This record gives sequence, structure tokens and C-alpha cells, in this order.
Amino acid sequence: MTSLRIAVLGPGGVGGMLAVLLARQGHTVTCLARPGTAKHLDEHGLRLSSARFGELAAEVGGAERLTGPVDVLLVTTKATSLDEALERVPADVLGHAVVVPLLNGVEHLTALRERYPAARVVAGTIRVFASRPEPGVIRHDGQLVAVQLAPGGEELADALTAAGVDAAVRADEAGLLWDKLCFLAPMALLTTRAGTPLGPVRDQHGDELTAVITEVAAVAEAEGAASDPAATRDFTWSLPDGMRSSMERDSDEGNPTELEAIGGAVLRAADRHGVDVPVTRAIVEELRARLG
Ligand SMILES: NC(=O)c1ccc[n+]([C@@H]2O[C@H](COP(=O)([O-])OP(=O)(O)OC[C@H]3O[C@@H](n4cnc5c(N)ncnc54)[C@H](OP(=O)(O)O)[C@@H]3O)[C@@H](O)[C@H]2O)c1
Repeated sequence: MTSLRIAVLGPGGVGGMLAVLLARQGHTVTCLARPGTAKHLDEHGLRLSSARFGELAAEVGGAERLTGPVDVLLVTTKATSLDEALERVPADVLGHAVVVPLLNGVEHLTALRERYPAARVVAGTIRVFASRPEPGVIRHDGQLVAVQLAPGGEELADALTAAGVDAAVRADEAGLLWDKLCFLAPMALLTTRAGTPLGPVRDQHGDELTAVITEVAAVAEAEGAASDPAATRDFTWSLPDGMRSSMERDSDEGNPTELEAIGGAVLRAADRHGVDVPVTRAIVEELRARLG
């Protein structure tokens, strides 16, 4: 397999985990990060503690800015720090690279395509439970690590598959992005509003959760994605009671949340298509007022 030059912008839970797995396959991985993190990673590399992969370490480069060509740029910041982080990646240095954002949400694709017109921006999603408990250390909970990429992501998908990730390319970009949001947005919005894991939300606000699942599915359809709200509901009801969303976790810890990238994006898409989403709108408005 070809050795790829890969830059990872935002080497946290998601980016750090993929950085370790790809670097161990012989790809040249440079993590683009804030000064302290960049220095730490450059000097000490990254460690991954994973139920699926075991204890792994990898040498990676750490840099504050992209200074040379790469084949692939993985964008793995949170939405709240995306604009600031992109300052580290000048368009003329990035050139024709493949850019794969793995953020939750849908609106970052347009922003990236405007900013990097010469690059090939390929939609992607990841399903995983990963976190960065301390600098240079990544924790992966459970067995799940599944990446979906739109066409253009074939080479990266091969590299990820070889690294042990469940990676696939699928043709429909809208379906890929909205499949994730159809499940994530209802679960994130309701757990964040309640300040609890999923179990109590299902018990106490099951009707609202179902209503939001139905509304987001209607928006997805309007965006050109096939959706199956009954299947999303079944899946949501099959998950453990203790499941938390990262939005609820961020809110609980007083960190900025991805409310706009997830809930705000659903409302804006609904407005574009004239889809009525009263339950979702009320919850997003309540959270906007509360979280600022
Ligand atoms: N974690 C998951 O299990 C998971 C699953 C599916 C989807 N997602 C999505 O994936 C995205 C990333 O989530 P995450 O959990 O991996 O986030 P995270 O652990 O908080 O990692 C974000 C990384 O971005 C870095 N960063 C922040 N500001 C930066 C800047 N200005 N320049 C460069 N780097 C900067 C942080 O650096 P420091 O290390 O220096 O703080 C951190 O390493 C989100 O959209 C999330 O919703 C996450």
C-alpha cells in the first residue's frame, strides 16, 4: 500500500485515535495543534488505550501550522474551534489534497469547500467513543470505530481498513451526513436539555424524543437523504440507559457545545425547505438561551 502523508488538524479523541492507527501502518502523520499540544506530540508521540486495539504508541509529528504538501488532511476539531484551527492550514500549502472532515454536523462542508477551492473536500462521518483524557493520551471505549467516506475517500478508506478501522465509501453524501444527524441530533438535544443520560430521557420525554426523530428525518428527506424514523427510533431505544452525548457532557463541564453545528443546522435546513419542526425548534431555542 502507498504510504500517505497525512495531517490531522485537532488531534483529540477522534483525530488522535486515527493518527495512532495510521502512523502505525507506516503513514507519515503530522498533528496540527495549538502550541503546547504540538510540542508535546512532537516530543512524546501519542498513546492509545483501546478495548479493541489494546495499548498502542505511535510517533507522530507535531506542528502549529501546515508547512508542506500532504495527501490527506483529516479535520477533527470540534465545530466550536474549527474556524480558529483552520488558520493553521493555508490554502496555498494544502493545494490539491483530499480534505476529510469527521466533525458531526453538515455545514462545515460548505465552509471547507469555500476556503480550499483547489482541494477535494470529501464528506466523512465516524462512529466511535473516543476521548483525550490528557495531552498525548487517547482513550477508545468499546469496540465501535466505523468511518464512512464519500467518493474521493477511497485511498483513505483503504488505509483505515488496513489499520483495523471499519471504513467504507458510500456514494450519497447527503445520506452519509444525515444518517448520522438523524440519530445524533435528537439524542444530543434531549439529553443536553435534561442534563441526563439517554435512559431517563426515554422514560420521561419519550414522546418528544420520538417527535424530534420524526422531524429531523423529514428535514433529511428534504435535503435529499433517505431516512427511516422508525428504525432510528428502534435504534435509539436499543442503546444503554447510561449513554451520554458529547453535547450533554460539554454542557455539564461548562465547555462550548456543538449546539449550532447539530441543532442549529437542523433548523436552518428545515427553514430552507419549509419543513415544520416545532418540537426541535423549541428545544434548540431553549438551549440557545441557556447555553449562549
Ligand atoms: N469523540 C468521539 O467519540 C466522537 C465520535 C463521533 C464524532 N465526533 C465528532 O468529532 C469531532 C471531534 O470531536 P472530539 O471528541 O475528537 O474532540 P476533542 O477530543 O475535544 O478534540 C478536539 C481537538 O481539537 C484541538 N483543538 C482545539 N482548538 C484548536 C485549534 N485552534 N487548533 C488546533 N487544534 C485545536 C484540541 O486540542 P487540545 O488537545 O490541545 O485541546 C483537541 O485535540 C466533533 O465534531 C465531534 O462531535 C466525536
